[in-house]
Amino acid sequence: MSENKNTAPPFPRTPKTADAYIRENLKKRNDRYRPAYHAAVPLGWANDPNGSIWYNGRMHLFYQHNPYAPSWDLMHWGHMASSDFARWEDLPVALGPDMAYEALGGCFSGTALEKDGRLYLMYTATTEHQQQCLAVSDDGIHFEKHPANPVIPYTLVPEGFSDVDIRDPKLFEHEGRFYCLLGTKDVNGFGNILLFTSGDLLSWQAVGPLFTPDDPEADNYLSVTCVCECPDWRQLSGTELLLFSPERFPQEGTLYENAHCSVYMTGALDFETGRFSYRTMGEIDGGFDFYAPQSFSMPDGRSILIGWKEMWGRSFPTFEDGWVGSFTLPRELSVKDGQLIQNPVRELQALRANPVSFENVPLPAGSILSLPGIVGNSVELEAEIDMKGAKKAGLSVFAGTGHETEVYYDAEKGFLVFDRSSSGTVITGDEENTSVRSARVSLTDNRLHLHLFLDVSCLEVFAEDGKAVLTGNIYADPAADTGIFFYAEGGDAAITRIIKYDLAV
Ligand code: FRU
Repeated sequence: MSENKNTAPPFPRTPKTADAYIRENLKKRNDRYRPAYHAAVPLGWANDPNGSIWYNGRMHLFYQHNPYAPSWDLMHWGHMASSDFARWEDLPVALGPDMAYEALGGCFSGTALEKDGRLYLMYTATTEHQQQCLAVSDDGIHFEKHPANPVIPYTLVPEGFSDVDIRDPKLFEHEGRFYCLLGTKDVNGFGNILLFTSGDLLSWQAVGPLFTPDDPEADNYLSVTCVCECPDWRQLSGTELLLFSPERFPQEGTLYENAHCSVYMTGALDFETGRFSYRTMGEIDGGFDFYAPQSFSMPDGRSILIGWKEMWGRSFPTFEDGWVGSFTLPRELSVKDGQLIQNPVRELQALRANPVSFENVPLPAGSILSLPGIVGNSVELEAEIDMKGAKKAGLSVFAGTGHETEVYYDAEKGFLVFDRSSSGTVITGDEENTSVRSARVSLTDNRLHLHLFLDVSCLEVFAEDGKAVLTGNIYADPAADTGIFFYAEGGDAAITRIIKYDLAV
């Protein structure tokens, strides 16, 4: 798309104007890097997933959206839906910045809630303050902003907390009342989350902050000057899970290496005081491109997570193609021994086609091996590698024309490594290192279990049954870089099992 200049109409910007613009300009989009089965913005810019919900038999994904250019501007809520989690139908823009109380930043992130057959969106309206608002729909497509907006005006923010950075409502019902978590910081700049409650969605009162600065357990996490963006909370069997995205979270070795990261805590939320006592904490995705995830429940009780599959402050190779912004695969969540486990939503298995598999293939030290039919850049791979005596063993994917992306186990360090330094177009960012990410992974019986999803310009790596997940975008040559190789170094290894599927989308 040649013209990325600002073509946005003046404020107010309505969903109708946005839809007309997308319709007229969609054909200018360059699709060379478009993923086949990951959700991606149709045109312009997308960041955080918003209001993800299973509603009327489909997963609805709303998202932060600027339809008019592939860069951030006054925020709309884009909208798409899918019944199989892989084929996404674009729906009309749900919210546009068209109210005076949204005039400076537009409609920021939030959640959806179904109540009495109606769909409620709660979002942050941004002017010089951030205030929480509602929009309501009877068909799940067309939304009316509530006349009582803002339902949580900035004047309700308790003393000691910012009324400028207080955003991203996580709205949920618990034991007959409504609750809302808001990401914020205190007046000293330390990140926090505030709990609010309501009996009717319209009249709200503050309960209290989740973290208390004098809480010795919470010291580490409060000594960061940031906004704890996009809070999320849910009950899982045996524990509660708190998710949030602290800006500029300090790096700890190979953890939290991105400029901004997303973390989970297990523990318990006290609905009387707002205090969250946590037991464990970790990074949700150890890869390059992951932020602002949010979760929702399936009718069968499963908890599903989806994240923004990009990172603030990066170079975006699809900018010149007219679109920037895609999302991870929806993932099923569970917690085991205090650790978050994520696996691709099981419905994706229904799309598996053309399986090609091998068993017990020796991988001698120094070898680089390809296997007939194990090829492609839009495929799912399940691999089990017996590390035997190898110091390193793994795969090279998106390979060809001098490019490759490596996923390997470093047995000496006990790390799974995702290396995109020779992938193709180099991505720059606010961090020193935008090429290599690793996660500590312990193997059982010295065998590495990998579950990989390659999708034209991205790779999601699930390891050891979802104990570690690393996601990254890859800008190789989509036509030529379809090779998949296996290798071992410093000792022999063996591929005990490999299976490749295409995904029939
Ligand atoms: C997170 C975020 C949110 C905010 C939105 C604005 O990526 O900064 O806190 O609501 O993006 O687009």
